Amino acid sequence: MRRAALVLLAAAALFVALTAAPARGDSTPRSALAGRGAELYAENCSSCHGIAGAGIGAPSTVHGVGDVAGFGPSLRGVGALAADFYLRTGYMPLRNPSVQPRRSKVEFSPDQIRALVAYVASLAPGPGIPTPHPARGSLSEGMSLFVQNCAGCHQAAAAGGYVPDAVAPPLGPNSPRDIAEAVRIGPNLMPRFSQSRLTDAQLDSLIAYLLYARHPDDRGGVALGHVGPVPEGLVAWLVAGVVLVGVCITIARRPA
Ligand code: HEC
Ligand code: HEC
Repeated sequence: MRRAALVLLAAAALFVALTAAPARGDSTPRSALAGRGAELYAENCSSCHGIAGAGIGAPSTVHGVGDVAGFGPSLRGVGALAADFYLRTGYMPLRNPSVQPRRSKVEFSPDQIRALVAYVASLAPGPGIPTPHPARGSLSEGMSLFVQNCAGCHQAAAAGGYVPDAVAPPLGPNSPRDIAEAVRIGPNLMPRFSQSRLTDAQLDSLIAYLLYARHPDDRGGVALGHVGPVPEGLVAWLVAGVVLVGVCITIARRPA
């Protein structure tokens, strides 16, 4: 009887140990998930990011995906955060290492993405995937944070714009997770916003505002593409001006 209980206890302990250890997929020693990721990495990423994510500095003669001679930054320490963002947006795998990554068709299944993310995270300790809570944010705070920190590149209506040598994409298609990741990474020419520049609570407000800005309730009048009150006011003056001149002409022409 006691022996049976002991065996049961041992089995339970083994079960707990087996399920608990690789639960996050990014623990070392490498989990089975990261192992699958390593294979996908070798096929799709190593031609630019090097063996085990070490990076390749200058244009090299290593040929890989589509026979591209590639170069790319080291992925050690970028963590699950960057891998998740770059793969879910379809930014990676890049076709040509000298062009800016753009949102495009996602090439991997969600399972493959999880495996690749686990592999990149296993290369070195790095930041994890953020979980924003926009419902806790404040719209007015979010709007002023957006105007101060983001509108210069992404435009007042988050419709996207051009900065020298890069395109700041429109923010419409981004989920709260995409936004939180982009802010903490600073992809391409975008600056990285650390906790000291933008706290998690401020980030929640910023995301709340961006979600709201997609479907703003236009109070009265035509929205004119949400370009902001100043240009909207200018349009109003222009229309009023034309009408006024028209009225003047009509009055002047009236026979005495
Ligand atoms: C053709 C070359 C190429 C291929 C293939 C490629 N990458 Fe990249 N990758 C780059 C370049 C170049 C950058 C830097 C982009 C920039 O400056 O905006 C980059 C950036 C990244 C970053 C961001 C790094 C950071 O510092 O935040 C991640 C993560 C990433 N790649 C993951 C991958 C994964 C995973 C794959 C395979 C599925 C892959 N890449 C395939 C060239 C490539
Ligand atoms: C200096 C200009 C600049 C500033 C300031 C800036 N961004 Fe960006 N942002 C960019 C560029 C350029 C990209 C494209 C990155 C790439 O292609 O790798 C980008 C990409 C993004 C993306 C991913 C969009 C997509 O779908 O591809 C998000 C989300 C984002 N920015 C949000 C923000 C937020 C929020 C702020 C303010 C806290 C901000 N950005 C400030 C230039 C900027």
